[in-house]
Amino acid sequence: MTTEELISAYRAAGQGQVFAFWDSLSPQARDQLAAEAAEVDLAEVERLNRTLVFKAGGGGVNLDGLAPAPYEPLPENGGNPAKWAEAKAAGEAALRAGRVAAFTVAGGQGTRLGYDGPKGTFPVTPLKKKTLFHVFAEKIRAAGLRYGRPLHWFIMTSHANHLQTETFFAQNHYFGLDKNRVHFFRQGRMPAVDFSGKILLETPGSLALSPDGHGGSLRALHRSGALDLMKAEGIDTISYFQVDNPIVRSIDPAFIGFHLLSRSEMSNKMVTKAYPEEKVGHFCVQNGKVIVVEYSDMPMEMQRETAPDGTLRYPAGSIAIHIIDREFARRLARGGEGVALPFHRADKKIPTIDGAGQPVKPEKANGVKFEMFVFDALPFANNSIVIETARADDFSPVKNAEGLDSPQTSRDDQMRQFARWLKAGGATVETDATGVPKQLMEISPLFGYDTDSFVERWHSLPIKPEIRDGLYLE
Ligand code: UD1
Repeated sequence: MTTEELISAYRAAGQGQVFAFWDSLSPQARDQLAAEAAEVDLAEVERLNRTLVFKAGGGGVNLDGLAPAPYEPLPENGGNPAKWAEAKAAGEAALRAGRVAAFTVAGGQGTRLGYDGPKGTFPVTPLKKKTLFHVFAEKIRAAGLRYGRPLHWFIMTSHANHLQTETFFAQNHYFGLDKNRVHFFRQGRMPAVDFSGKILLETPGSLALSPDGHGGSLRALHRSGALDLMKAEGIDTISYFQVDNPIVRSIDPAFIGFHLLSRSEMSNKMVTKAYPEEKVGHFCVQNGKVIVVEYSDMPMEMQRETAPDGTLRYPAGSIAIHIIDREFARRLARGGEGVALPFHRADKKIPTIDGAGQPVKPEKANGVKFEMFVFDALPFANNSIVIETARADDFSPVKNAEGLDSPQTSRDDQMRQFARWLKAGGATVETDATGVPKQLMEISPLFGYDTDSFVERWHSLPIKPEIRDGLYLE
């Protein structure tokens, strides 16, 4: 399409304001604006305006016939130990066969944390101040060593943080991973619109574009060629996790095994909600399919509803950890009749410009951003399952600068985990009443990444190190 055709298409779609400053732009700025404008699917924007922006309560979630999702409880909570052992063995076999890749979504903007930089470069560990990416890299390296097959790691970035992320890995020598097995690709972008559906400009020569949500990861995996690369490498199983959770079991053989043995296309991990208002999605069943209903979409009285035994009726919180079948991701990415992730509407303060081209920093929401959520793929998945995991061993995200889910709570949870492992190995560790050790300490995932691997390694040490302030095991 020529630039003239592009501009006419925008005018015809009622979006001619995008080119309001065209005549005053330098040739270079015109090229950039035209390139951004060409990225936008105008028909999609028109559809989203109609279905989400102009419709009162647009994007509301259908709660008809909702029921709590069943899940596979942990052995310590009544699950069948033989089934868990069988799943673990199946997962380990898949890892030894090189069928599994790690996948991190790291395209978010980290606004709540108030950290300026890719979130994965945020320091999180208690003693060494390792960054999130460093911790994941060590976990993935450890799994590769344990199963004799180094894993591929796919990292989804955004336009805003892609180069910084790549540079960070290069500067840190990929944290000991083979750089040919670490793959970065950008997620897609969506334009923001004002409440009358007009695409907003951020500057006279650029659109207000933002990441298309972690649901954009399926499209991005496909478009970037990552799925083809996986196929060529014999990888059919994708271990998906978010960038914000340092204690995640990024490669969990039992989870992988349950997924494979159930022939599930997309599998999920749950923890019991810590309290009714906890801001996590809820695993539910609707029309026979597992789905996630986000905390913001489930009425508070439902979140507080209890079962006859006094426990929560919807206890299963989503911690955004999934196993995804490669060809399922491709099917969803390709789309087609009735197979597409829906967009969600988020009303936001979107920096823009006024009629004279001067910057405007809005005080209240002035427009709408569109995002897809990866869990919206679940209703399309066959045989989706939910398994329970121990919160203390899988989930302590860093989301806010202070308070709940902050760097402090996450450091404490990491320290509690190290103390539990040391105690399981027979060491004496002094802790406070909540289990946080009195001494500052850290254990690298390369030494141990769960109780079993830690204890095995600990017992193999001929001389045990003293439990003291500054203890570091690698
Ligand atoms: C998310 C889940 C919630 C879950 C909780 C667990 C959503 C809408 N909700 O909440 O169900 O219980 O995590 O921690 O996801 N990201 C991208 N690109 C984007 C947007 C996000 O890569 O365009 C990545 C972020 O980098 C991050 C993750 O997705 O790794 C989560 O995003 P965030 O917006 O922080 O989700 P939460 O609201 O915390």
